[in-house]
Amino acid sequence: MHLTRDEERVLEGEEGWAKAKALEVIVKVGEALGAERLIPIRHAHISGASYMTIGDAGLKFLKRLAEGGVRFSVTATVNPVSYDVEEPYSLPRTRIDSRVVAAQTEILRALERMGAILTLTCTPYYTEIPKSLGLGRGSHVAWGESSAVAYGNSVLGIWSNREGGPLALMAGIVGKTYFYGVHDPLWRKPRIAYRILTNRALDEAEAGVLGELVVGMHRSEHPPLVDAPFMGDASLKEFSAAIGSAGSLPMAYIPGITPEDPDGMLEEEVEVEYREIARRMEELQPPGRPDIIYVGCPHSSIEELRRLYRALSKLGRKPSADIVVSLSRSLFARALKEGLVERLKGFGASFVRDSCLIVSPFSKHNRGVVVATNSYKAYFYLSRKGVRVGIARVEDLPLLAL
Ligand code: F3S
Repeated sequence: MHLTRDEERVLEGEEGWAKAKALEVIVKVGEALGAERLIPIRHAHISGASYMTIGDAGLKFLKRLAEGGVRFSVTATVNPVSYDVEEPYSLPRTRIDSRVVAAQTEILRALERMGAILTLTCTPYYTEIPKSLGLGRGSHVAWGESSAVAYGNSVLGIWSNREGGPLALMAGIVGKTYFYGVHDPLWRKPRIAYRILTNRALDEAEAGVLGELVVGMHRSEHPPLVDAPFMGDASLKEFSAAIGSAGSLPMAYIPGITPEDPDGMLEEEVEVEYREIARRMEELQPPGRPDIIYVGCPHSSIEELRRLYRALSKLGRKPSADIVVSLSRSLFARALKEGLVERLKGFGASFVRDSCLIVSPFSKHNRGVVVATNSYKAYFYLSRKGVRVGIARVEDLPLLAL
């Protein structure tokens, strides 16, 4: 790999051992992938911050970095953690051990000492950060959350490879990553197009299922072109989360949405009938009356909250299931201002900020419980943890629990 004089200086330890080590990791991974140079990044989003995910080894590592005086070189934000940090015991049907609170607090302190902004959300794109940093088409970043990577590349034109948690951390410390994958404009050009044969706009549950279907068919290093009528932002969010969880795609090119020119270098076109989506939706129906209605994986948008409220109002009463919404602190503040929090609480909804059913200990205490959600990603992970999960769009969730 060609390194600049400055990069060599960092590698030699002139800016401290930690930065040298972080750069060494980035260079080694980049060289293994065949990258020829590094590029500066403008933002890092750190995943793997939940104690439930990284455990004592991760806590020790972060503490060592923070105590060694390591600081992020670029603005760094953080993914969700094990519980709502202001109300640790707010997650329904879940016990949060005081040991978990103590360890999680140490992780957050270490990240804060390193200069991270504790946004604690998997939807950094719904916060003020992209605007405040002027991130837009062609901005290079290192995001460690797969759903945000796919949404950033596909919807916003913010360029990030799908970084593992440690790599996003190292990139944030160094302020650089290797020039590879979707950072290279040539890699971003789709070669295979999937045309979804329907005039019907796909709701967010169907969009997630479409993500799974595309991942199952796609065999190209280049991103797929997915020509589908997505219903709105929630559909794009759930589709992005699905291609990052059912598979490892960092993006899809979506005509009319992705702010780039695909260059017309297509080699193959695949037609997908709507009935394939409908069939999979049928299979993924909730396995019985839900105990929990869950919205907010990735963290909820304001549009989803409004739709959930409209659906509950139409019903006119509390459903028999617990309603859980996970969302970012900034979106919670906005919903509070709009009166949505109060109104949804009136229907029995609980709000979990900073966390979600997947990265919290929820599944440990709820094996066998039936969850109905509008999120394919939530289905994907919760069902692997022994929770019984089904999918439906927001409007249908309350109807399932009458
Ligand atoms: Fe976010 Fe948790 Fe889903 S971190 S993407 S809500 S698994």
